Amino acid sequence: MAPKIFITGATGLIGGDYLVGITQKHPDWEISTLIRDPTKAKIVEEHFPSVRIVHGSLANSGLLERESKAADVVLNFANCDHLPAAEAIVRGISQRDEIGTLIHTSGAKIIAWEMESQPSTWGKFMPRRYNDMEGVEELTRGPSEANPNPTGFDNILPNWAAHRDVDLAVLDGFRKHRSKVRTAIVCPPTVYGPSRFPGFTTSIQIPRLLNVVLQLGQAFTINGNENKWNKVHTQDISVLYILLTEAAVSNQPVELWNEKGYHFAEGGEFIWGDVIRRIAELGYQKGLLSSPEPVELPNATVHQFWRGGQMNMSSTSLGESQRAKQLLGWNPTRDELLEDLDRTIDVEAEILGLSLKK
Ligand SMILES: NC(=O)c1ccc[n+]([C@@H]2O[C@H](COP(=O)([O-])OP(=O)(O)OC[C@H]3O[C@@H](n4cnc5c(N)ncnc54)[C@H](OP(=O)(O)O)[C@@H]3O)[C@@H](O)[C@H]2O)c1
Repeated sequence: MAPKIFITGATGLIGGDYLVGITQKHPDWEISTLIRDPTKAKIVEEHFPSVRIVHGSLANSGLLERESKAADVVLNFANCDHLPAAEAIVRGISQRDEIGTLIHTSGAKIIAWEMESQPSTWGKFMPRRYNDMEGVEELTRGPSEANPNPTGFDNILPNWAAHRDVDLAVLDGFRKHRSKVRTAIVCPPTVYGPSRFPGFTTSIQIPRLLNVVLQLGQAFTINGNENKWNKVHTQDISVLYILLTEAAVSNQPVELWNEKGYHFAEGGEFIWGDVIRRIAELGYQKGLLSSPEPVELPNATVHQFWRGGQMNMSSTSLGESQRAKQLLGWNPTRDELLEDLDRTIDVEAEILGLSLKK
């Protein structure tokens, strides 16, 4: 029988690229996807005629539960902070006769917890590094009776870290239903580069930064922005999800799942200051910014016009991908983050109705 795959978020940047890749590679698989927007449902109907559309949203817990029960593999791309949806998916999988797999998407803000609690560190480099091989238990171990509120400094992520509540619900899934629920959490860093989904998609951090910078008419740094994040191209990260889906379908290997099933999805690292300086140069050349160099602003000033922005562009988040590279042969090769800024600035300028210098 053909494997049954259920996807949430397949009209978005990452999930949309995955949908293109998985339908091309496995045209015989039974693929279904949750879609809330009728216009996007039409796009999927037209371009992916073999895909079954499940009309609804993450708020429809009963629907998510039923679809997750029926699927061999569920990929949850839609919203890494939607706890009831993750719980409904786990509940559904736990009711299966056979084991089912949840490949859940988290986000690398989770490992920036140390900076999140110390605003004076914004823009500075923070040396803390995670990895998903020998360090995997720091990511998958949860609070216990002996240690109900981990601090992060004790090698367990704090309960209050970004996305952690949902990650813990996913991890609880295999702990409570080991014979039925198998999990992998994929943790994307800064995702850049176009998706192959045939509708409009955009990423998060760089577009949000551009939106603020273009409205100000000036690029800016905080503490020089020596802080670093990992990066990955959209069309590289979707390959990792395809490899994981194939591994789930063929029940291999055990080191990919559950306590070991945390996968940083990075293809290198970058310094935010380099991105900001390139935005300044390009934005100036395009007639969108007043200076080819960023201005240095105090943290408190940025906080006034961009609440939450410091986390977006001024934290450090470094989590090395070893597991998928070693066990699945995942090989993210694209290294085009600075080059892709040219395209992304044009897109954001168009959204804001700004005209480019000819
Ligand atoms: N992009 C990044 O740099 C990055 C980095 C780290 C983590 N992540 C996480 O990875 C996941 C995917 O990211 P992305 O960049 O692909 O996001 P995206 O482009 O915004 O796509 C989100 C997808 O989820 C769907 N969705 C959202 N809320 C929904 C709801 N309530 N009901 C049904 N569908 C819903 C959207 O549907 P519509 O098309 O109808 O909006 C869309 O298909 C997210 O959880 C994101 O936080 C992303």
